[in-house]
Amino acid sequence: MKKNPLIIGNWKMNKTIEETVHFINSLAPQITDSEVSVYLAVPFTALAAASHAAEKTNIVIGAQNMNDAKKGAFTGEIAGVMLKDAGAEFVILGHSERRQLYHENDDFINKKVLRAIKDDIRPILCIGETEEEREADQTEEVLENQITKGLKGIAEEDAESIVIAYEPVWAIGTGKVASVDIVSKAHIFIRKCLTKLFEKISHKIYIVYGGSVKPDNISLLMQEKEIDGALIGGASLEIDSFVQIIKNS
Ligand code: PGA
Repeated sequence: MKKNPLIIGNWKMNKTIEETVHFINSLAPQITDSEVSVYLAVPFTALAAASHAAEKTNIVIGAQNMNDAKKGAFTGEIAGVMLKDAGAEFVILGHSERRQLYHENDDFINKKVLRAIKDDIRPILCIGETEEEREADQTEEVLENQITKGLKGIAEEDAESIVIAYEPVWAIGTGKVASVDIVSKAHIFIRKCLTKLFEKISHKIYIVYGGSVKPDNISLLMQEKEIDGALIGGASLEIDSFVQIIKNS
C-alpha cells in the first residue's frame, strides 16, 4: 500500500527569520486539508521562529545539519539537543553538499544519525551517486555502501523513523531530473538494501527522491510504488511552486 506522501523543503542557506515566518503563514492555510506530510528544513537562525509560526499548522520544522557530539568544545557547531530546544523535529544528514563541500564521510554521517536518534530527532539520510559513478556503472555499489555505513549500529526499532532521501548528485540543482525509470530502479534497490538490514520493518521506512523536483514532474514520480515523497531544494523557496508540488503529490 502507498504511504501518505512526505514532501520536504530544503531551504539550504536561504531566507531570513522574517521571510521564514511570512512563508509559513502563507503556506499553512493552503494545505490544511492535505494528506501530505509537509516538512520544512529551515536555517538554524530561523528554527525557533519557524516552529512557533508552525505551531497550530500541519507543517513540521527541522534543520539541515547537526554535530555528532552531545555538547562541548566544537566552535561553530550545533548539537541535536539545541535543535530540539529550538523546535526541530527532524534533521537532514549527509546531504551531498555536505559530503562534497565539507568532506563529510559515511562514518561521520553515521555518528550523526545515531546521535539524532538518541536526541529524538528524525534523521533524513541523503544518499546518491555522482555522474562519474553512474557512468562507471557503480550506482548500486555506492548506494549500498552509503546505506550500510550510514545506518551502522541502528536498532530495528529505531530504524522505522529514518527517512532515506535518494538524491543523485548530478540531478541536484541542475535542472536534470532523473527519469522516473532511473529513480524507481534506485528506490527498489534501496528497499532491498534496507530489507537486508531491517527485515521486519524495512517496508515502513520512507524513501523519498530529491533532485530538480518541480510542480510538473512530481506527479509521475509519485505514481511509482517505491517513491514515498520528495526532498525539494530550489522549488521549495517559492510559495507557489511548493504548494503546487504538495497538491500534485
Ligand atoms: P534541488 O535540490 O531541488 O534544487 O535540485 C534538492 C536538494 O539538494 O535537496
